[in-house]
Amino acid sequence: MPASSSGTAAVAVRTRREGAVLVATIAHPPVNALSVEVRRGLLQAAEAADADPEIAALLLVGEGRGFIAGADIREFGKPPLPPSLPEVCNRIEACRKPVIAAIHGPALGGGLEVAMAAHYRVALADAKLGLPEVQLGLMPGSGGTQRAPRLMGLQPALELMLSGRHLDAQEALECGLVDRVAEGNDALAAGLAYALQLLATRAPVRRTGEGVLAADIESARATLKGIAADTAKKTRGLFSPLKIVEAVEAGLDLPFAEALRNERQLFLQCIDSPQRAGLVHAFFAEREVAKAPETRSAKPRPLASVGVVGGGTMGAGIAVAVLDAGLPVTMVERDEASLARGRANVEKVYDGLVKRGRMTPEAKAAVLARFAGSTSYDALAGADLVIEAVFEDMAVKHAVFAELDRVAKPGAVLATNTSYLDIDAIAAGISRPQDVIGLHFFSPANIMKLLEIVVPAKVSADVVATAFELAKKLKKVPVRAGVCDGFIGNRILARYRQAADYMMEDGASPYQIDEAVRAFGYPMGPYQVSDLAGGDIGWATRKRKAPTRDPRARYVQIADRICERGWFGQKTGRGYYLYPEGARTGVPDPEVLAIIDAERQRAGVQPRRFGADDILRRYLAAMVNEGANVVRERIALRPLDVDVTFLYGYGFPRFRGGPMKYADTIGLDRVLADIREFAQEDPLFWQPSPLLVELVTQGRNFDSLNHPAD
Ligand code: COA
Repeated sequence: MPASSSGTAAVAVRTRREGAVLVATIAHPPVNALSVEVRRGLLQAAEAADADPEIAALLLVGEGRGFIAGADIREFGKPPLPPSLPEVCNRIEACRKPVIAAIHGPALGGGLEVAMAAHYRVALADAKLGLPEVQLGLMPGSGGTQRAPRLMGLQPALELMLSGRHLDAQEALECGLVDRVAEGNDALAAGLAYALQLLATRAPVRRTGEGVLAADIESARATLKGIAADTAKKTRGLFSPLKIVEAVEAGLDLPFAEALRNERQLFLQCIDSPQRAGLVHAFFAEREVAKAPETRSAKPRPLASVGVVGGGTMGAGIAVAVLDAGLPVTMVERDEASLARGRANVEKVYDGLVKRGRMTPEAKAAVLARFAGSTSYDALAGADLVIEAVFEDMAVKHAVFAELDRVAKPGAVLATNTSYLDIDAIAAGISRPQDVIGLHFFSPANIMKLLEIVVPAKVSADVVATAFELAKKLKKVPVRAGVCDGFIGNRILARYRQAADYMMEDGASPYQIDEAVRAFGYPMGPYQVSDLAGGDIGWATRKRKAPTRDPRARYVQIADRICERGWFGQKTGRGYYLYPEGARTGVPDPEVLAIIDAERQRAGVQPRRFGADDILRRYLAAMVNEGANVVRERIALRPLDVDVTFLYGYGFPRFRGGPMKYADTIGLDRVLADIREFAQEDPLFWQPSPLLVELVTQGRNFDSLNHPAD
């Protein structure tokens, strides 16, 4: 007798009888998120199991890719619809018949909370179990903070919740989160077999909530104190991690039901926090960027072998990124010595891994077997894609592309890793401009996640689709960018760096600026970054731009004075900071302050005081304003593309969602008012972006441009 539920719940959760077992199948693609229909369906299933005398056990199983990926993130911030997830979990746990969760694929967040509310858990080998709410500015809010410690122990549970890490089936078994790991790839069969075995042995109902949170309360309190202190230090300024610790701690003293209510209160505080909004924005934005129009309209070309021209830091980093993705790489350099250096640059990365015990020498050898080098372009004849990473000079690029045009097979994708040169001009120099695209990697290219895919006018759509396919293989976050000086990221960076330099000349020290930027949530300030990257890089850019610089524009010469002394940052032992004896963290340098003072005098500037807030207002207004220009000119498709660029390439604090999301949070009218105020001093630099003005006039925000179809 099939007992199925009715209404929309029937779609999201199907129930049917298998002998004495009621099977509730969660069928809510793509990831079985716990939207209201699923919650209703699960509640009804628990009730149906209890109500039917012929049913002896309830089996929960997911259909498709996994068990349950968690709460429906799209519902956050909207009015809640009953039943709530805590209600569903409590009802499952209260079942008078054994409830078994059979887990395959992701059982994350609310999904794991449902599983922990069940009485028994079996996992397939591909299961991924975790409580990753913290990554969205949240905490488990449906019993997770109380049930996880009861199953796994206090410390492992906190580690799971504070890191957001996923456990595999074996790890979950070892820590007590699941009862068994089953063979095969059929969760339903594994769950049924386990249920039948439990029934045959008359296994009792076993409620996680009836266990104890910690056997020794006083020692648990001491442990929690240590974890709280450590968390406060490590998660600087994040809201939800400490709430997680607080919820667990409250559970030491409160009865289970009250501890759950307390957890829910803390969870709701997290839901209301701007950090949650920022992190959820980042979650969807980083998925959205991968859906460029060309990925829908065209199929990628074959991508089985890659060529890299140039074996410097960038070329070698790109080669490693491609090797790590399992593809073969052919590197071309101009002579044997350069090739040997390129090969050494590649090997150095793997040697480091072997030294740290993160790779075996055999694995290194296996990777390097896919690496070939040559001093002849002819070696690239078979490559599906060639990435050029040679010196940033148009004549050099033209020469390289002429060679590629000569040797590459028809249909090969020809990519340049330039960070600012005109890719349309590079493409125009060869016979197949439709095959030319920009792939702007960030250094170190094998580590940094961002990949700007720069789309010149003549490129064909399937080449763009191939670039996105490459990003996927390389596990990079791709952002589609248009051609302009600096594309999305470096173009915006140039503006806010200029704003920072103006403040430096006007009275703020580089150390103050760095500190304000770090306090905002960046790992480093702009002058620390400059010291790390090497001051000579910015110097070269400034020299390149000098001839085309607007003669009316203000130009701060402090950086030039520092570079003229050969102070290029960490690699020379001093830059804006001093790095005594190779130290990686710099200390303020009185001589730099003296240079700044001298420059102020030369420029006739009367220094004034800047508070941290003044610094941030200018720094961010410059960033957001140029971000708006970049969107207006379609260099970035949407504001969210700017956000993802800055989250993945420039250290913008993720919990703020990106510069455009941040601007929405504080209000575009406020940003515009700031720009107009600053424009009174320097109207040329502080020209409000017409897009910003338009949005403020219309009472709209940047996010309204992220979903034009809505
Ligand atoms: N709620 C709503 N939508 C979700 C979701 C959730 N919890 N988890 C994933 N999705 C959506 C994604 O936005 C994506 O939608 P799209 O196709 O429209 O872009 C789709 O499901 C597939 O997700 P994706 O991440 O592209 O697939 P994947 O196979 O690479 O990864 C997961 C699957 C489940 C591991 C990953 O999506 C994930 O980590 N989800 C969040 C889990 C989580 O944090 N849960 C706790 C919530 S508090």
